[in-house]
Amino acid sequence: MRLATHRPRSPAAAAAAALVVTLGTLGTLGTLGACGSTEDDDGGDLADPFAAQPDTSEGLVNVSADLDAVLERGALATACADYAASPGDRRLRLLCGKAMFFFESFGTPGVPKPILTWLVEHFPDEVGAGFTHLGMIPDPASVDGLPLGLPPGPDFGTVPAVSFGCASCHFARLPDGRYAVGAPNHAYRYGHMNLMMTLLPMLSVPGADPSAHHPEALAVIQPLRDRMAADPSIQSALIAALLPLLGGGGGAMPTLSAETEGHYARWRSGTMDFLIQPLPFDDGVHTISKISALWGIPGEAELAAHGLTSAMLGWTGGTASVHNFLAGFVDIGGGDLGEWPAERLGPLVDYLDSLRAPAPMAPPPADAVARGRGVFVAAGCQDCHGAPRGGGAELYDFDEIGTDAAMRWWADGPDHDGQPFDGLRFQPGDSLTNALKSPRLVGLWTMTRFLHNGSLERLEQLLCVEARPGVTEPAFGDGGHTFGCDLPAGERADLLAYLRAH
Ligand code: HEC
Ligand code: HEC
Repeated sequence: MRLATHRPRSPAAAAAAALVVTLGTLGTLGTLGACGSTEDDDGGDLADPFAAQPDTSEGLVNVSADLDAVLERGALATACADYAASPGDRRLRLLCGKAMFFFESFGTPGVPKPILTWLVEHFPDEVGAGFTHLGMIPDPASVDGLPLGLPPGPDFGTVPAVSFGCASCHFARLPDGRYAVGAPNHAYRYGHMNLMMTLLPMLSVPGADPSAHHPEALAVIQPLRDRMAADPSIQSALIAALLPLLGGGGGAMPTLSAETEGHYARWRSGTMDFLIQPLPFDDGVHTISKISALWGIPGEAELAAHGLTSAMLGWTGGTASVHNFLAGFVDIGGGDLGEWPAERLGPLVDYLDSLRAPAPMAPPPADAVARGRGVFVAAGCQDCHGAPRGGGAELYDFDEIGTDAAMRWWADGPDHDGQPFDGLRFQPGDSLTNALKSPRLVGLWTMTRFLHNGSLERLEQLLCVEARPGVTEPAFGDGGHTFGCDLPAGERADLLAYLRAH
């Protein structure tokens, strides 16, 4: 893992970049902005990080206004069995990977299903069918009104359960209404959903003491408690749903500390702490991650072509490959990694590799995009965002970027000793970095959360075209990464067009 600090560009490269801007302003760079490359004075290649990738989707529908088409019109149900019968068929392999994306729990323990169906049934305005009011997408095939992304998981005794699958966080509707696999679901109120699933039932059993819980967490579930107070039959339905759990399925109800409840209450939609109760691992530091897009993650061959040995996944960039990320997901989520060897995860790895950022239906004006390409180079953005799809070729110190630094101690723990906290296993090739990766910059036009902690809502705030909220509270802070903020307004407008073009 290379962990170097940012190296300023040579004056020669700056001069070449300035030339690109000038040419771009003259409007002669229209095609360069889309897919070309240019040379700097040293003869080095200033390749366009956003050059189109080959389509390797085998005709699967990953972006469409038609949800049934995205779900491959029922073909996912038998996809992995079909692939097992024809292991040489790459289309079936990807289809199996897609089925895993939507419907596999990886054996990770989840939530008792009766609690979810109770929420759907009795709280139409607060939860809604398919958890739509919490930003999820209803599963058209679910007779219980459950959303996509909550596949059946290991039962709690006799009680059926659902787990958190990839689609809960990484499947979303685009601003134009289309559904897209790999889109970060920044509408998903993950923290609030968890409070409704845990705190609300906990407070509904006789003798529960609200004063032992975090006031902000109580506020989140108050509308649901009001509804229960008005209609006693809702509580009876809950008790009926909980009874089997209190018997044989004991231990199924996760408990959270009041402090943790407060965190769940305060995460904005599309953000969360990944190592926290009730997961089997809690690193003891409060960090906030926005859900990443899964588009255009470079594979091994592409990394090698750029002299890189790690895909630098996760915000701290310590995860070397998609395979390692999945293995970590299974392990940290409480699944049995022995059940999930590399060949069994392989179809999902290949499927993720085929995901591409959707092009905007209403692209920004081509001349502004072409000029923005020049600004991106001249302003030094490409120095840190020059690897495939605008990712970085190295990791950065939090002090250099200046964004909220709580994440520096992610997985390290409160002792800050540079070692993963007790019990957390890293996959071979992965490491604790205490640093920050430079994210890929594709599909930004679809997003409503920016920076690693999701503290900004619009690219205009990032480039200081609009004021930032000015939050300084640790983990939530929205300062830093002011690159480009001092550019003339016209250049920032062009840069925005460029950033929204791919
Ligand atoms: C509950 C929400 C949630 C679920 C479920 C989830 N993810 Fe994520 N995912 C995230 C968040 C948040 C991040 C950013 C994590 C970080 O680095 O701090 C992320 C990051 C990633 C990354 C790294 C992307 C990058 O460019 O760094 C990959 C790959 C990924 N997820 C794949 C998956 C897959 C595949 C699944 C299903 C097995 C899955 N995730 C399930 C929320 C989720
Ligand atoms: C010194 C390296 C560096 C430079 C220069 C740089 N960036 Fe970044 N960029 C980063 C890092 C690191 C992050 C992640 C910061 C975070 O999330 O805390 C980032 C984040 C971003 C994001 C947010 C992406 C997301 O998913 O939230 C955008 C957009 C972006 N940069 C665009 C630009 C533009 C445009 C420029 C030039 C004006 C630029 N960057 C200059 C390193 C850099």
